[in-house]
Amino acid sequence: MRAVTAAFLVAVGASSSLLSQTPFSESHFTSLDDSSVKILTHESHPEHSLTVRSHGSNEASVKGGSSTLEDICPGATKGYTGYLNSGPKHFYFAYFESRSKPAEDPLVLWLNGGPGCSSMTGLFMELGPCTVNEDGESARENPNSWINAANIFFLDQPIGVGFSYSTNESAHGGAGGTFAASEDIYAFMRLWYKAFPESKSLPFSIAGESYGGHYIPVFAHHINEMNEVASLDDQIPLESVLIGNGIFSDTQQASSYYDIPCTNVTGIGPLLNSTVCDKMVDAVGRCEYLMAACHDYPDPIICQAATRYCGQELEVPYVESGRNYYDISKPCEGYLCYPIMNSVTKFLRTDKVRKAFGVDKAAPKFVGCSEKVGREFEKVNDFIIDTRPFVAALLHSGIRVLIYVGTYDWICNFVGNERVFGSLNWRGLPDFRYQQENNKQDWAGGLWWESGLLRYVRVNGAGHMVPWDKPVEALKMFKSWHEKKALD
Ligand SMILES: *[C@@H]1O[C@H](CO)[C@@H](O)[C@H](O)[C@H]1NC(C)=O
Ligand SMILES: *[C@@H]1O[C@H](CO)[C@@H](O)[C@H](O)[C@H]1NC(C)=O
Ligand SMILES: *[C@@H]1O[C@H](CO)[C@@H](O)[C@H](O)[C@H]1NC(C)=O
Repeated sequence: MRAVTAAFLVAVGASSSLLSQTPFSESHFTSLDDSSVKILTHESHPEHSLTVRSHGSNEASVKGGSSTLEDICPGATKGYTGYLNSGPKHFYFAYFESRSKPAEDPLVLWLNGGPGCSSMTGLFMELGPCTVNEDGESARENPNSWINAANIFFLDQPIGVGFSYSTNESAHGGAGGTFAASEDIYAFMRLWYKAFPESKSLPFSIAGESYGGHYIPVFAHHINEMNEVASLDDQIPLESVLIGNGIFSDTQQASSYYDIPCTNVTGIGPLLNSTVCDKMVDAVGRCEYLMAACHDYPDPIICQAATRYCGQELEVPYVESGRNYYDISKPCEGYLCYPIMNSVTKFLRTDKVRKAFGVDKAAPKFVGCSEKVGREFEKVNDFIIDTRPFVAALLHSGIRVLIYVGTYDWICNFVGNERVFGSLNWRGLPDFRYQQENNKQDWAGGLWWESGLLRYVRVNGAGHMVPWDKPVEALKMFKSWHEKKALD
């Protein structure tokens, strides 16, 4: 979920410093007193370690009194919870093996967006093994979990998000923006494969939504670059990326803040009256050229003016209407406009859940989206990074890309996404546009089209969090993607 911030700031230079290429030395497990907790270390990378606690296995269930993870989260499969430790930084993750064929099904890393939002929202509201009940005190099995078809881990990043934390206040998350986070993700994957070498034979995908349109292209591109220089043995078997309702390019997507509330492109519009909309349409062109100026001359004075103008003229009228930012068909009620987000927050703040999910005592009280981390990304102007070139590079290097968009989202909507992919500078662009114009295909959830390695899927009537609104269709789309089949 992307937080509501006027997101048109100063361009930031991309740091492409590579991690040291020293191969990992022999790893070893060190058992703690709790037999289900293991710490994986690397002699050549003393700054990194992986703390892993298994659940769902026999050893994990030998625990006096307290609830097991499966009690708390019905439908959970075997797996692990734990932390990637990097100096003072501790990244939380929860892993569940596939309900189908864990030894063959793909490995998927799921990331929520924000920036600053926890992937626990993905786990407990969208596609994890269980869904939190409205009372916020219990959860029920999610029959349409994406773990039906894949081994999935949910990772809280950067530091300061969800259950991830730093023991050093000044080494807080977000400060380095998307590019800094990519190095931690890469380290995490290297440690993962060292700990679980059997998962190396599985195709690996990174999936996520919203600000994932920034994270995922950059992280995947970083993995690709590292693969180019890594020995065969150390390569990460990245196969595809999946991005739902993403934010890729502010200049391409800003104008859609007019289309969604002021036209009937969603089938339930227009939502704002013509007085308001006439004023908005006049602002579109000016907003676009101010943003273009900010990209060309990334001076804070220009960019702040662009941010203020575009936010005021194009975002505020919708926000003031009282509708949900993530689903135009609903009112904005509850935390982040969803009553269920209050339930998720309440649930994840209980001791029984923290304990069963192996959350460190030092981790902060759960919040769905950290405003502090969001502000740090703003400070380093991460929002104006255009991630289209990273997506193009992925496609050119043979990585499959699935873009899916719920049509009722406002904040990262389908009109903006279609402008992004209709202008993506890659060799498949002419054919992609031809398919978009002439060859849209029907499927149970809406329309889709594809060219080469790029597939674009509309999910009708879904908001920003597609698996929450359309669980059956979302799972179908996810499965057919991994099976490399057409959608029907
Ligand atoms: C905390 O982090 C800051 C910035 O990275 C560093 O300068 C400082 O030495 C760290 N303090 C400790 C106690 O590790
Ligand atoms: C908007 O589109 C829907 C679906 O095509 C249609 O039923 C509805 O009448 C339209 N509304 C307006 C105001 O044109
Ligand atoms: C249009 O909507 C705005 C904002 O809700 C409101 O202030 C204004 O009175 C409306 N105008 C008309 C003509 O309905």
